[in-house]
Amino acid sequence: MSDRVNPLVIEQLDALLHGETNLVANLANASALLKQTLTDVNWAGFYLYQPETDDLILGPFQGNVACVHIENGSGVCGTGLATQTTQLVPDVHAFAGHIACDSASNSEIVVPLTLSDGTKLGVLDIDSPSKGRFTTDDQAVLEDFARVLLKHVDKA
Ligand code: SME
Repeated sequence: MSDRVNPLVIEQLDALLHGETNLVANLANASALLKQTLTDVNWAGFYLYQPETDDLILGPFQGNVACVHIENGSGVCGTGLATQTTQLVPDVHAFAGHIACDSASNSEIVVPLTLSDGTKLGVLDIDSPSKGRFTTDDQAVLEDFARVLLKHVDKA
């Protein structure tokens, strides 16, 4: 079976979140959907931006227990937040400052999440035990996934 992220996951997310505006419930179900539909993934979840402390705090996720606080600009997640660009990391051990929460992780993708009014929500983080797990095609699908997620959060 191909490891390519199936674009159908975006429609599944849209249906799953339809009519629900609770942020925690929607992020919890979004992380579960990713973990149960993506192959070769050991962690999928969210870090949420805290403007008071200018850092990220662990949000809903599926996978092993993880680091709770990540500073803005630190690690892959903090870099995604600081630069507001997707971080596609084929080998986390080659990424300076990578934060090793789960020693099984070897590649990672982080997509920043920002509401339509410019408010930073946080980041989506997905880890794989395989190097080079995520392609630029996967990146495009996961960025669309993030857009659909944000559409539902924007309605809340
Ligand atoms: N590796 C991330 C930390 C979060 S865990 O992967 C769940 C980072 O470097 O920001």
